[in-house]
Amino acid sequence: MTADPALGSKRLETELESAGALPEAWRDAFRATPRHLFIPDEVWSEASDGWRRLSRLTEPDVWWEMVNRDGYIVTQVDDGRPAAPDHGEYSTSSATQPSLVLRMLDELNAEPGMRVLEIGTGTGYNAALLAARLGPENVTTVEVDPQLADRTRRTLARVGRPVRVVTADGIAGHPPHAPYDRIIATASVQRVPTAWIEQTRPGGIILTPWGNAYHNDALLRLTVHEDGTASGPFTGRAPFMWMRDARVLLGTLGDEVHDGDVPDVSTTDLDLRGMFGHLDVDFAIGVQVPGVSWHRFDADDRCGAFTVWLIDVDPATDRGPR
Ligand SMILES: C[S@@+](CC[C@H](N)C(=O)[O-])C[C@H]1O[C@@H](n2cnc3c(N)ncnc32)[C@H](O)[C@@H]1O
Repeated sequence: MTADPALGSKRLETELESAGALPEAWRDAFRATPRHLFIPDEVWSEASDGWRRLSRLTEPDVWWEMVNRDGYIVTQVDDGRPAAPDHGEYSTSSATQPSLVLRMLDELNAEPGMRVLEIGTGTGYNAALLAARLGPENVTTVEVDPQLADRTRRTLARVGRPVRVVTADGIAGHPPHAPYDRIIATASVQRVPTAWIEQTRPGGIILTPWGNAYHNDALLRLTVHEDGTASGPFTGRAPFMWMRDARVLLGTLGDEVHDGDVPDVSTTDLDLRGMFGHLDVDFAIGVQVPGVSWHRFDADDRCGAFTVWLIDVDPATDRGPR
């Protein structure tokens, strides 16, 4: 992979163009916002047992490969306190996959001059794209993690997109600059906070990833009405990490299943092969059983048999996700 920033950006652009993932309205902003400027030198790469630290200094080719392709990049693990210096257990901040960033911006339908609130600053790449098109003075972004907020505030100033970076819990929105024409969240919620609806002008749009213990992969697009309510459709997939206080402990079998447990046994005529790991089905079941997580184990001999465990979890837990 090339370390030439211009060539790298062009490569990413070509990948997005050929996938039809670079909306016309955002093309100029994308070209004016090289992604590598927002990715820290130290990132995290997926490993069999979690995340391993990856440094631009020691593995420049891998770093550039990650930056210049259409994938997400984990930029923080374990809320900034990794389990070991070079090993993390779960991701807590990332640069979102560029095609997803652009799809969400397109769905947000934000026009130059509108005031936008982003919840989940992360690397600042999304905020910088918004600033390129709407003007930095019209963009406010909220980040709950003080270290990330400080770093990204400096980055955005350095690259000439001095958007307002607020260090706070974004669940409360940011009242001082409300009302907003648009609110966009880049972390997943289980419930849309009332504050977001109150801080969006009538006719304005709230776009947020949404999920629950059963299924966390949906994008919700709400329009706010004059009477203070909001409604709208789920528009597609949006695999995001949780907002900090919305995290779900998915549970482990070891916590739930113990020697001597006696199961209730029943049978069903349903074909279970079509019931787990299929987007629409998972979504439909998940809204019925929001507090249940599932784990599927396929037979080692690849005979097609599998076991699914359903675990009743407490969504209010504050332990980290798995
Ligand atoms: C997927 S990353 C955001 C990606 C980012 N928009 C970008 O362009 O790089 C999610 C971010 O949301 C932040 N976050 C989680 N819970 C939050 C909360 N309650 N309020 C504000 N930010 C939050 C995380 O710390 C993390 O940085």
